[in-house]
Amino acid sequence: MRVGVIGGGNLGSSLIKGFLRSGVLQPDEIVVSEPDEGKARELARLSIGVTSDNRELVRECDVVFIAVKPDLVEPVLKEVEDLSAGKLFVSVAAGVSTAFIEARTRARVIRAMPNLCGAVLQMASAYSKGSRATAEDEKTVAQLLGKLGTTFPVEEDLLGAVTAVSGSGPAFFFYLMKAVQDAGVELGLPKDISFKLAAQTARGASEIVLNSEEKIEELIRRVCTPRGTTIEGMKVLEERKVADAIKEAVKAAARRAEEISR
Ligand SMILES: NC(=O)c1ccc[n+]([C@@H]2O[C@H](COP(=O)([O-])OP(=O)(O)OC[C@H]3O[C@@H](n4cnc5c(N)ncnc54)[C@H](OP(=O)(O)O)[C@@H]3O)[C@@H](O)[C@H]2O)c1
Repeated sequence: MRVGVIGGGNLGSSLIKGFLRSGVLQPDEIVVSEPDEGKARELARLSIGVTSDNRELVRECDVVFIAVKPDLVEPVLKEVEDLSAGKLFVSVAAGVSTAFIEARTRARVIRAMPNLCGAVLQMASAYSKGSRATAEDEKTVAQLLGKLGTTFPVEEDLLGAVTAVSGSGPAFFFYLMKAVQDAGVELGLPKDISFKLAAQTARGASEIVLNSEEKIEELIRRVCTPRGTTIEGMKVLEERKVADAIKEAVKAAARRAEEISR
């Protein structure tokens, strides 16, 4: 199988790095199309095929990930429409529906919402099958994305929620980690140590949540010894209604996903 990625930016390059790191694809099975010369040079170091010609990429590949900004999807589709029959297009563009792509190409289409964590094989993603895609296509995409982390099939109208929770999600968790890190520095820790303590704690907490049968509320209670230290911090989070603010942030991202959808 040859897999193409149109757009080797943040998301496209993280997918490629994940495919290579997981071993699900070999370098000679990947082609990326990227107009920016600097990014193209970086990507060429991975020993994959690199081109600036989207038509050449589509001609060569069976599966084509579309990883350009949402407003560039339409011109890219126009460029490759006559080569699209018999191809599987996997779009990761926020808000661009399978119907939109199907109306402009003859490709079979799956729409996916990955996140940037694919490069470290910790991606959370979901995907939805378009009307022409087959069960075999779904298996191919589930296998490719699944090797990069966790993936779920969902109804297409839920991809806006997925965009907010796990597509945008890394930025929300980076923000929280930075706040904890900065507090550590204000308390006198060297920056590098505070950074690693905060990030490793986030990783450990995630591992526990993913592997525990207990509810998150129960896990919080287990850290909060009565009259201990954590409970004092939790009181501040509750008083400042931080959970409400975070929910609002995720919902704002979902509203934006809805606004830009077509
Ligand atoms: N970033 C995320 O965390 C994330 C998460 C989930 C989904 N997505 C989706 O992924 C898509 C890409 O986002 P991104 O953050 O990776 O954006 P990005 O970093 O700007 O990457 C897009 C890349 O496509 C290149 N490009 C522009 N026009 C092209 C063309 N005609 N043919 C081929 N490549 C072209 C751009 O090159 P230039 O820089 O030269 O324009 C850029 O390198 C978006 O649709 C977004 O909704 C992103």
